[in-house]
Amino acid sequence: MTLTYKQLHPSFVGEPSPIDLRSANAGDLAEVRRGMDHYGVLVFRGQAFSDDEQLAFAERFDGTLHAKTSTAVLEKNRFGNEALSDISNVGKDGQLLAADDRRRMSSLANRLWHTDASFVDPAGRYSMLSARVIPPVHANTEFADMRGAYDALDDEMKAVVDELSVHHSIAYSREVLGFEFAPGEKEMLKGAVHPLVRRFPETGRRSLYLASHAQSIVGWPVPEARLLLRDLMEHATQPRFVYSHQWRLGDFVIWDNRATMHRATPFDDKKYRRELRRTTTLDIARPAAAH
Ligand code: OGA
Ligand code: MN
Repeated sequence: MTLTYKQLHPSFVGEPSPIDLRSANAGDLAEVRRGMDHYGVLVFRGQAFSDDEQLAFAERFDGTLHAKTSTAVLEKNRFGNEALSDISNVGKDGQLLAADDRRRMSSLANRLWHTDASFVDPAGRYSMLSARVIPPVHANTEFADMRGAYDALDDEMKAVVDELSVHHSIAYSREVLGFEFAPGEKEMLKGAVHPLVRRFPETGRRSLYLASHAQSIVGWPVPEARLLLRDLMEHATQPRFVYSHQWRLGDFVIWDNRATMHRATPFDDKKYRRELRRTTTLDIARPAAAH
C-alpha cells in the first residue's frame, strides 16, 4: 500500500491516508517508519485496537516495549500489564479518580512539556496513544517539533548544545509540582543521562532532546544549567513549533520521543471520563523479527 500524507502543521505531523494498522504487512510498516522519520508525529484515524492488538502492533512495529513507567512505580495498573499505560482519569473500580488521588496527582505532570521515558536508559523511542473514550470538551495533546527548534538555534548556541549531556529524572518533574515520593520509591527514580542533541542518521537531522524531567547538565553548575534548560524549553515551545491534537474516538497517534516533546492540556477531569492507552518502545535496535 502506498500511503499519502496530509501535513497538519507547517513543519511536522502527518495524517496518512486510510490504513488498518492491525493488518499492515511488512512493506506497510516500513513505509510507516519512513513516515515517522519525516513527520515525527503520525495521526492515524479509525484504529479499532483492543488492548492485546495494540501491544502486538507496538512490538511488531518497533521492538521492545517500555514497562517501567512512571505510574508503575506507584502501583500496578488495572490491565495487569505495565507495558500498556493507563492514560486515563479512571481508577481500578471504574470510577473517576478523586481530586486528591495519588495517581491523579502524578498524572497531572503530563501537563508539563515532556518526552516519554527520558528518565530511563535506554530511553523511550516511539509512543503510541490510542483514544478509547473522549470527553465532549477540549482535552488536546500538544506536540512540539524539537528538530525544528534545533534548526532555529543560531550557530553559536548549536555549538554549545551539541556537546552537552543532561540528567533526566521523573522525581524532578514531579517535585517541581510539589508531588512527594516515599524514600523507597525515589530510589527507583534515579534517572538517566542522555545527550542534549539527538542525531538521526536516516535523515541527517538533529533535535533538541529536552523534557521537564531534565534537571541538570553534566559538568555544569546547577543554576546555570537550569537557566539554559529553561531558555531552551521556552524557545522550543513557541507557538510556531507546536501542533495541538484534538482527539477523535479511534485516533491512534504515534510520535518519536527523540524528535518531539508533548503535553496534556487541562480539562474538567473530575466531571468527564477520558481514556487512552499508551504503548512506548525503547530506543534500542529493533529485533530482526520485528517486521
Ligand atoms: C502520554 C501523555 C498526554 C495526554 O500519554 O504520554 O503525555 O494528553 N499524554 O494524555
Ligand atoms: Mn507522555
